[in-house]
Amino acid sequence: MNVDVLLGLQWGDEGKGKIVNLLSQNYDIVARFQGGPNAGHTIYLDDKKLVLHTIPSGITSRDTINIIGNGVVLDPYIFHNEIEKLKNENFTPNSNLLISRRTHIITPLHRLLDAASERLRNQSKIGSTLKGISPAYADKYLRRGIRVGDIENNSFLTKFKKLEEDYSKLINTMGFNMSDFKIENIEYELFVQKWFDSINTLKEFKFIDSEIYINNAISNKKRILAEGAQGTLLDIDFGSYPYVTSSNTTIGGVCIGLGIPPSSISKVFGVFKAYCTRVGNGPFPTELNNEEGEYLRKAGNEYGSTTGRPRRCGWIDIPALKHSVMINGITDLIITKSDVLNELDTIKICKSYSIDGKKHRHLPYDLINPGIIPDFEPVDGWKADISNINSFNNFPEKFKEYIKLFEKELKKPVSIISTGPKKEQTVFRQ
Ligand code: GDP
Ligand code: IMO
Ligand code: MG
Repeated sequence: MNVDVLLGLQWGDEGKGKIVNLLSQNYDIVARFQGGPNAGHTIYLDDKKLVLHTIPSGITSRDTINIIGNGVVLDPYIFHNEIEKLKNENFTPNSNLLISRRTHIITPLHRLLDAASERLRNQSKIGSTLKGISPAYADKYLRRGIRVGDIENNSFLTKFKKLEEDYSKLINTMGFNMSDFKIENIEYELFVQKWFDSINTLKEFKFIDSEIYINNAISNKKRILAEGAQGTLLDIDFGSYPYVTSSNTTIGGVCIGLGIPPSSISKVFGVFKAYCTRVGNGPFPTELNNEEGEYLRKAGNEYGSTTGRPRRCGWIDIPALKHSVMINGITDLIITKSDVLNELDTIKICKSYSIDGKKHRHLPYDLINPGIIPDFEPVDGWKADISNINSFNNFPEKFKEYIKLFEKELKKPVSIISTGPKKEQTVFRQ
């Protein structure tokens, strides 16, 4: 029981990166188990902001081993850029980052297909980050994906060429040519060359059988933290399908994405924001298309860490959180960004939905139903700056009541309260 897990409970961007970065100093290993460069996990090195996409957020703890697990999809080009950023900050990721041989690789072809698929969707676009996530996972299940381990033998180029042949036909069938799309603003052919160059960076790292490495670490009583990407409501099975990502962002994804047994899991931290945000399309029952939503976006600086897109904003959604706590077996809650609400007289909370005149306290199957009306209840704001308070006892009474409200509704302790983006802006309750 020495694996702890940290998961997002909403639609991503709950502040997972900050918390993992902070907690990583207490762990021997931090491992990503799903998702890929669609993730954008923000950490702060003193005043300097750094956004990680593929590399676990424990990378800045020099004594912690970071692992990219088998369940992740990795784009060597984006990986190369992340490594450069870390090296510029005087980190030496070559010494504490290991990559699973079973990790699937995102090729430029996957990014082309992501773009082509979204273009064809017209009105029903998913709002993908266009990082090639869904085509890469689709190829994994179509059993023609390319894996990191293939780089070590001679099959890599042959597999790429075969995939390119297949994709070229597919893209044509969709009514496009490969040259119709640019990737990172670069023509396809040129991008492919750069992408191949970046494989050299990947080769500088140690490829491992991560399932063996991690299970040995479990036997040797090492402390391991599994870092989730995205959030429960973006899970391919339990999220707002089809407006989801293409991996299991929930607890089951940890066992599959690292090759570890459920019995090794101890704490499951669930991170949620004091309000809700969503980037991309899809249902969002508590969304505020008004000046309240604008206020949250501005005060919370809600712009995507990966794509820069404005995030849609709304009040907190308790039925959705209950769903996430249940699916993941959350043991401890972590609330972030309450400080964004510091100045508000009144904060609203959705405890139930009304659907066709009936009250629902749980997330319904059909979230896309336009007839879902959130029932908002007002609670008093605390009207004070909490961003530099360092113990629970020192918080304003109204803020303590607000935290207790979540404990009552979700029946789990709020163990960590984040009051700002920096590491030191964190209050531990136990
Ligand atoms: P992640 O994807 O879950 O890691 O979250 P992101 O990094 O995409 O987005 C969270 C944003 O909120 C980042 O800009 C963080 O620096 C910031 N952040 C994290 N925790 C807090 C907090 O408690 N208060 C405030 N104001 N910002 C926070
Ligand atoms: P982190 O780890 C927020 C969203 C996209 C889109 C949908 C599908 O930073 O919390 P994809 O590129 O996966 O095919 O996009 O999922 N999405 C995220 N939203 N945070 C993320 O990651 C996300 N990763 C994907 O915006 O709506
Ligand atoms: Mg993010």
